[in-house]
Amino acid sequence: MKDKVTIHTLKRLKQIGQKICMITAYDAAFARIFDQAGADAILVGDSLGMVIQGRDSTLPVTMDQMVYHCSAVTRGATRAHVVGDLPFMSYQTSVADAVRNAGRLVSEGGVAAVKLEGGTEFAEAIAQIVRASIPVMGHLGLTPQSVHKMGGYVVQGREEQAARRILQDAIALEQAGCYALVLEAIPLELAKEITQKLSIPTIGIGAGINCDGQVLVCYDLLGMNPDFRPKFVKQYANLHDGIYRAAQSFFGEVRSEAFPAEEHSFKSKTIRLVASNPDPQPAPERDEKAGPVYGVPV
Ligand code: KIV
Repeated sequence: MKDKVTIHTLKRLKQIGQKICMITAYDAAFARIFDQAGADAILVGDSLGMVIQGRDSTLPVTMDQMVYHCSAVTRGATRAHVVGDLPFMSYQTSVADAVRNAGRLVSEGGVAAVKLEGGTEFAEAIAQIVRASIPVMGHLGLTPQSVHKMGGYVVQGREEQAARRILQDAIALEQAGCYALVLEAIPLELAKEITQKLSIPTIGIGAGINCDGQVLVCYDLLGMNPDFRPKFVKQYANLHDGIYRAAQSFFGEVRSEAFPAEEHSFKSKTIRLVASNPDPQPAPERDEKAGPVYGVPV
């Protein structure tokens, strides 16, 4: 497709100072809407473990599940650049595993790039994935796959030493070959410094205004879960209440028999009532409300 967004488009957007818009999606229906609405990039995040599967972390998400969701999203998005998350233990175990699993997301899931969490310790894995012609997006700051090491989902890089380590990791990831970098839950001053130092685009989530782009989990910005309102999320819709009300209306109309109405029902010219069948069987006893019982097509 002529205007398909690529890693080169994203780099150009940084150069001309136009903010990059990224959003997560987990299925074709949402991907199609976000693609049509103008997303530059769609991330098939392992956040699906929490928002789709109802788990309390991303750790149980498997490669097979990521492949499944990536292939759905890539069928829905035609213009946006689609990135697939490498899940926990799909790249931490060895460089060979990292390359093989990145390859699966591309060949089976159809994504144009993969994302992985972590710093200098994964530079070699990143370099090898890039050598296999697979673009890699890095992810620093709050890295949810390290929830136990971090001691919870807490803002990272608030202290001088921690901030310096994140900056060094960012430089190492660019040198290893990353084409873009997600910065999650770090102070905006640190995100600004990283963004200025790197030539690759930074995409922030809870990292302030100075990043080259922004990403949010789609279920958060759409207001699907009223119990989850972290500081870094802005809710652009309240789908929870909209869906709740729609479902309630449906259930009410089914119970009151307002639905389905005649316009939702099919009629047949070729089916006669059992009562007019030339070889009638005894009619089953039935409730008056149950409506006509149809026999064999004639
Ligand atoms: O998994 C995910 O959705 C992510 C975003 C929060 C950046 O990694």
